[in-house]
Amino acid sequence: MPTTPTIDHLPPPARGRLPVIGHALQFVRGPLNVLQDLRSQGDIVALHVGKLPIYVVNSPQLLHHVLVTDAGSYTKGRMYDKTRPVVGNGIATSEGAFHHRQRRLIMPAFHRPRLRSYSEAMREQAESVIASWKPGQHIAVDRVMHEMSVGTTVRTLFGTGIDNGTIAEIDYCVGVFLKQVIVRTMTPNFVENLPLPGTRKFEAARKRLKTIVDTILDERLRATEERDDLLTLLIAARDEETGEPLSRQQLHDEVVTMVVAGADSTAYTLSWLLHELGRNPAIEARLHHELDTVLNGRPVTFDDLPRLEYTQRLIQETLRLHSVSWIQMRRTIVPVRLGDTHLPAGAEILFSATTMHRDPDLYPDPLRFDPDRWLSPPQRESFQPFSAGPRKCPGDHFSLTQLAINLATIATHWRLVPANRRKVREVPAAVLRPNRLPMVVQARS
Ligand code: HEM
Repeated sequence: MPTTPTIDHLPPPARGRLPVIGHALQFVRGPLNVLQDLRSQGDIVALHVGKLPIYVVNSPQLLHHVLVTDAGSYTKGRMYDKTRPVVGNGIATSEGAFHHRQRRLIMPAFHRPRLRSYSEAMREQAESVIASWKPGQHIAVDRVMHEMSVGTTVRTLFGTGIDNGTIAEIDYCVGVFLKQVIVRTMTPNFVENLPLPGTRKFEAARKRLKTIVDTILDERLRATEERDDLLTLLIAARDEETGEPLSRQQLHDEVVTMVVAGADSTAYTLSWLLHELGRNPAIEARLHHELDTVLNGRPVTFDDLPRLEYTQRLIQETLRLHSVSWIQMRRTIVPVRLGDTHLPAGAEILFSATTMHRDPDLYPDPLRFDPDRWLSPPQRESFQPFSAGPRKCPGDHFSLTQLAINLATIATHWRLVPANRRKVREVPAAVLRPNRLPMVVQARS
């Protein structure tokens, strides 16, 4: 079980000493609510998980300093230590020169010309999912979107003809991993060595995913035809000094990293978007009007996206109100000064895009889903769904394309309406996801 954190307030200027003021707050209201409440307590607040102090950064300007201006003084911190056993030393978990090299190698796979070619596979993936839907059918939207998202990542970035059964297995393994990462971040280190059911499940999923990824790699290393995707770039890459290719283990780690990093975030963002459409018929009608006007019933293409302006605003508003990155971390590698506060080397930093995007000082009436607020966008520092700086999400444009293509494909043909009146709750797992999202498929007349 997670250790109960207590909260100290850190009044400026702390000048290197951390005064312990105030009260112990329990996580009874849920960690997201606690983090939201902390926003009014100061630009930086210290939170204790057991004996470990964690510094919560609330100010968008100070966060910009951590992520961008002074990014070299930080590594990724505790949460990523716990992710490393899952994804190995891939782009998301590596540091320093090695991370820099992996990023340089990987980024071209996300450039515009490649997004154009991925967009067709994205549409085909969505079309194959909705082809089986029948009017009146009940679907678990969160689960369907998750499988669709894993299928899209695997088929676009790794160009493999993998079958749906294997996609479902990958999907399951990713779910087990991400659950363990959050449990391990919130519990003392010794817990992960205990023979608990979660640990055994984790080991079984790790072995299964390794076998699947090995099969993908064997298939691609044997293939003779030309491809234009991320795996091709990784296989062709050579070290500038030694001329060596990436090792088999490195290829493996990058494939797993991409699947794990991309799956949940895109799937649950799309799920939240469909949830908002289901409970806001007026907004849904405006989306339908735009799709009918621009597409006139034909399949959406990459070139249509700039003209789907309302669709883009809907996506931005979902990334704001339902920012899935509710918890992110960094660790100082040297003593730093953050505003008026001095922190030692080794200090754990925590921040939350979700709570920042719901701050009433930054977004008036923050809990209202209002795509039109994007007619005048906020300051760049106040909107960080994909983070910023050298560790910014490399999949940002990939997922924005995927979200628009998937949404346009679904909403051209179908409406999804809530299956019941039960409240959909937010679950702060590895990302912020709905507890369940049962919806009913209706044909658009
Ligand atoms: C709506 C969808 C997505 C959201 C909201 C999102 C959000 C984020 C955020 C906030 C980070 C920074 C984490 C940190 O610094 O602590 C990140 C990193 C990352 N994301 Fe995404 N992401 C999304 C989709 C994707 C997709 C589709 C992929 C790949 C196919 C991807 C791959 C990655 C990778 C590899 C990193 C680590 C980058 C590095 O450390 O250099 N993401 N993402």
